[in-house]
Amino acid sequence: MWKYTILLIVILITIAALYNGLTVRHYSLISDKLDDGQSIRAVLISDLHNHIYGDNQKDLISKVIKQNPDVILLAGDIADDVVPIEGTKLLLDGIKDIAPMFYVSGNHEYWSGDIENIKETIKSYGVTILEDEYKEIVVNDMPIIIAGVDDPEWTRYEKKDNRKSMDKNFKELADKPQFKILVAHRPEQIETYKKYPFDLVVSGHAHGGQVRIPFVLNGMLAPNQGWFPKYAGGMYKHGNLTHIVSRGVSYNPRLPRIFNPPEIVVIDITK
Ligand SMILES: [Fe+2]
Repeated sequence: MWKYTILLIVILITIAALYNGLTVRHYSLISDKLDDGQSIRAVLISDLHNHIYGDNQKDLISKVIKQNPDVILLAGDIADDVVPIEGTKLLLDGIKDIAPMFYVSGNHEYWSGDIENIKETIKSYGVTILEDEYKEIVVNDMPIIIAGVDDPEWTRYEKKDNRKSMDKNFKELADKPQFKILVAHRPEQIETYKKYPFDLVVSGHAHGGQVRIPFVLNGMLAPNQGWFPKYAGGMYKHGNLTHIVSRGVSYNPRLPRIFNPPEIVVIDITK
């Protein structure tokens, strides 16, 4: 009897560990910069790597639409250096009319050697491309700021220093009272982002550290962070700054995700 019980437990744990269905993860954030009754709902999509969920991306599109976002943040590696761009096109075509969209590049998009075309394609769906710059927009009658950094890979390809352009373009944000969001692909560069007066930074890139063990290990290995990454996924607090790291919506059968299903992130900001 015990033998069968243990076997059943092992089977159930294995199923849970290998579950790779598309999930929706919610975070809530409180800010004094909003007035009573005001709210912002941001949907964060990161690291799609052109994967297609369901016929013509309908599984991903329907889940994003269902969240009824005020703004959609695309945090890099939406396209890929190997997989064709069809998955990105299908996604953007399906969500282009529901909320304003903002995009920053990721390293794989630079590795493709086709970054200009990728950005032009993404832009053609009405997405605002952020390259070390910010936009002032109005969401639910509330002025907010959305900024974004181009992936640091661009410094290698274009021989420029994006820290300099961040310093130049983000310096004036200190005088602006609005709620400020920074979209930046790489979570491990949080020490750089902390220099600027943002309220919320959103990132991806770490893919949840690939392998997780609930309550024990939040990620085993992540690019640019190595083993046991500090910023594998989740919500981190740095004084007044909140950093939310998406575990990404990527799915690659050659790179199994353990207790780490692909996720769409929903962030609710209220007073
Ligand atoms: Fe990445």
